[in-house]
Amino acid sequence: MAKPVTQFACTSCGAVHKKWSGRCDGCGAWNTIQEEVPLSAGPSKQSLGAAKGRKVALVALDGQEPPPPRTLSGLDELDRVLGGGLVPASATLVGGDPGIGKSTLLLQAAASFARAGRSVVYVSGEEATAQVRMRAQRLKLSDTAVRLAAETNLRDVLTTLEAEKPDLCIVDSIQTMWVDTVESAPGSVAQVRACAHELTRFAKKVGTSVILVGHVTKEGQIAGPRVVEHMVDTVLYFEGERGHQFRILRAVKNRFGPADEIGVFEMTGAGLAEVANPSALFLGDRDSPAPGSVVFAGLEGTRPLLVEIQALVAPSSLSQPRRAVVGWDGARLSMILAVLEARTGVGFAGLDVYLNVAGGIRVGEPAADLAVACALMSAREDAVLPARMVVFGELSLSGALRPVAQADSRLKEAAKLGFTAAMAPKGCKLGGTAGLELKLLPDVATLVGDVFGAG
Ligand code: TYD
Ligand code: MG
Repeated sequence: MAKPVTQFACTSCGAVHKKWSGRCDGCGAWNTIQEEVPLSAGPSKQSLGAAKGRKVALVALDGQEPPPPRTLSGLDELDRVLGGGLVPASATLVGGDPGIGKSTLLLQAAASFARAGRSVVYVSGEEATAQVRMRAQRLKLSDTAVRLAAETNLRDVLTTLEAEKPDLCIVDSIQTMWVDTVESAPGSVAQVRACAHELTRFAKKVGTSVILVGHVTKEGQIAGPRVVEHMVDTVLYFEGERGHQFRILRAVKNRFGPADEIGVFEMTGAGLAEVANPSALFLGDRDSPAPGSVVFAGLEGTRPLLVEIQALVAPSSLSQPRRAVVGWDGARLSMILAVLEARTGVGFAGLDVYLNVAGGIRVGEPAADLAVACALMSAREDAVLPARMVVFGELSLSGALRPVAQADSRLKEAAKLGFTAAMAPKGCKLGGTAGLELKLLPDVATLVGDVFGAG
């Protein structure tokens, strides 16, 4: 029999290489290539169909399944992001930049779980018990029945958990855990994968909800192979700008509920406080609006969120004028500038353009296009939009405005916060006006001509 040929596969993108190398040519990731034995060289070459297997029971799609049981963590914002509470026997990964507040959030969740009479074990691989205790003291959570361990050896952790069988177990962080069956160092792809696998298996077997903390790489992804994200049931990201006190918990994957849901927190001297009405927080003082400032009626998950978009346009002394964006996509700004120029003749050549989403939140929705175009025009023409007006709509390359989803809930949120007018694309399906005065526009030329008198 021919000697089995080993090959090397990237754990990130799956590309197969003949030789090991530090960097995958396929996806450019570092340290993701691992040796594996290809299937054809395995012990049995015969086709699987010929082998005798066990017949698997097939069932119809329409069986009645009860919804998964849930336990509320007591932190409303966290429960909302999880889709209505924590599911037993599930694994959740919480990622985020260092220092953003993951340990704080999870300690608070652990404490509030324990207060509800459930058993909680908090395993810290990063901090000594004294440090975690100090944090608990500062957060005034020392009196809760959370049980604490500072350990990185996963074998010991699992033995302890098997004995305790807690309702909730928090592992902070997955990158510090190691198993002795894998030779590489803690934090390496192989270790992270093995540890996440063991912990997920434990969760399914015993019925514990396991929450793993994961570090993110410079590119903002959870460090270690993407397979960890596939392994767990729910992936949450905890994000925020260093200079701002707002923190956003975002579901990017959820097997038990909607993804894209967000929870908003505020980092205070006494830990994370839940923010029930984030729109009010992200909006500054609207009594005396400045040119370039526009309120965008956005949507985060199922939740309407009003944010202020600010633009500044100033004569440039550079041969290549500056385009600076905070909280929005830079490429999309270039696109809107190009559409304005091509479809209405309003140019920004020779002008520096700065765009900022206030409050440190990141807007990813194309529905913000119209608000951005408005902010740019308002800054360029030095014209102020009505203070109590919200704007939303997507811009296509032809200059036409496209309707966006859930226009009604955007309008309702605006009305709730005291806004009296809204600017939106003409084609929007509206159930009602929510009491707002509506200005419906067909295209960007109407915006520039009718609203700003330019072009
Ligand atoms: P931490 O939870 O340790 O972050 P992570 O686990 O994501 O690395 O949070 C660290 C930051 O939070 C630290 O810079 C201090 C700040 N913080 C507060 O502002 N208030 C508090 O009550 C606590 C506990 C932390
Ligand atoms: Mg931490």
